[in-house]
Amino acid sequence: MKDKDTLLQNAGINTRLSHIGNSPFDFHGFVNPPVVHASTVLFPNARVMETHDQKYTYGTRGTPTTDALCEAMDALEGSAGTVIVPSGLAAVTVPFLAFLSAGDHALVVDSVYGPTRFFCDTMLKRLGIEVDYYDPLVGAGIEQLIKPNTKLVHTESPGSNTFEMQDISAISAAAHRHGAVVTMDNTWATPLYFRPLDFGVDISIHAATKYPAGHSDVLFGTVSANAAHWEQLHETQITLGTCASPDDAYQVLRGLRTMGVRLERHQDSALELARWLEGVDEVSRVLHPALPSFPGHDLWKRDFKGASGIFSIVLKGGSPDRHKAKAHAFLDALGIFGLGYSWGGFECLAVHVHLGDRRVAKGPQEGPVLRLQIGLEDVKDIKADIERGLAAARAV
Ligand SMILES: Cc1ncc(COP(=O)(O)O)c(C=O)c1O
Repeated sequence: MKDKDTLLQNAGINTRLSHIGNSPFDFHGFVNPPVVHASTVLFPNARVMETHDQKYTYGTRGTPTTDALCEAMDALEGSAGTVIVPSGLAAVTVPFLAFLSAGDHALVVDSVYGPTRFFCDTMLKRLGIEVDYYDPLVGAGIEQLIKPNTKLVHTESPGSNTFEMQDISAISAAAHRHGAVVTMDNTWATPLYFRPLDFGVDISIHAATKYPAGHSDVLFGTVSANAAHWEQLHETQITLGTCASPDDAYQVLRGLRTMGVRLERHQDSALELARWLEGVDEVSRVLHPALPSFPGHDLWKRDFKGASGIFSIVLKGGSPDRHKAKAHAFLDALGIFGLGYSWGGFECLAVHVHLGDRRVAKGPQEGPVLRLQIGLEDVKDIKADIERGLAAARAV
C-alpha cells in the first residue's frame, strides 16, 4: 500500500480534510485522537526532566490532541507551524504582540474586525506602538504609507462587514521591501478558499470559532506562520500562556472534517440569495465579492478559490434619520435568522452593521447595512424570511 501522506498530498480537499492531522494507529486504531486533559506531564528520570528530552513536557506546550489540530492546519495553510489560542481575537492579538515593540509603527486595514481596532487603539497605544489605518483598496500604494519604523502590516480580505477586497500579493511585496511582517485575518475564506502564505503573507490568522468549529458553540483561534516567523510566534504564545482547551481543539478538528461540504453549501446558498437580492427593489447594493457587480470582484476571482456564506446588503434608506428604524424593522421581522454576532455556524444570523469607527473606508452611506450569515437551512425558507424583513423595512 502507498504511504498515506503521499496519497493525501495529491488528494482532493474533502479527502484531505477527512484524514489530515491524526494517525489512528498512534492511538490503537481509534479514528479520532484522544482528548488529552493535562497540566502535568511526568518525566521518567531527573536527566530527562532537566533536558526536556521528550515530546511533551507541560500542558501549555501542546498535547497529542492539540498537535493533531496544528498538523491539520499546517497541511491546509502550507505553514511551518500553527499555534492555537482561546479565541479568534487572541489569534490577532498574539501575533501583534509577537512582532511589535514600543516605538514601532503598524499599518492596519481600515475595514478590520472592530475588536482588532479596539486592541490597537487601546493596548497597543498604551505599549507605545503607533497604528495608522489604511484604505483596503490601497494595493501597491501601501509603500507610500510605510515609515522607517513600520514593523507590521495587517490585512483582512474581504474586510469585515463591507467585504472590500485587498491586493494581498502587492501589499505583501511592498511590506517585505521594507522588512515589515505581513499578517492576514483569513477567517472569511478559510484556507480552503484562500491560502495567504502562497500570496506572500507571513502569518495567517483564523477565528476558528467560525467555519472550522461550525456550530456556534466553540471559541477558538489559530495562527499559522511561515518558517521565518514561526519561532518568534511560538515563543510569544508560550510566554503569554494563551493556550487553548483540549476539548475545544478536539471540536475544531472534528469540525474540519465536514468544513468542505458545509462551506460548499454556505457558498451556494449565499450566492443564490445574493444574486436574487441584487434584483430586489428595496436593496440598493449587495456587498458580496463573488458578484461581478462588486468592485473587488476581479481580485476575488484572481486570488480566491471560493466564497463563504456571509455578505451584506444595503437597503435603500430614504432620509438618514430613518436608516436605523428601517434596519430594526427588517431585523425584528425575521424568524429563521437569529439576531446575533459571529458567523460560520449552521444557522442564519443577521446584524445591523455600524461603520462609525471607520476612518478611510467609510462604507455605504445611502442606507442601513445589514450583514447576513447564511446558514445550512433550505434556501426557500431563508428567502421567505428575508422577504418578511424587506416588507417590514418597506413599511417604515
Ligand atoms: C474577521 C474576524 N476575525 C476575528 C474574529 C474574532 O473571533 P472570536 O469571536 O473567536 O474572538 C471575528 C469574530 O467575529 C471576525 O469576524
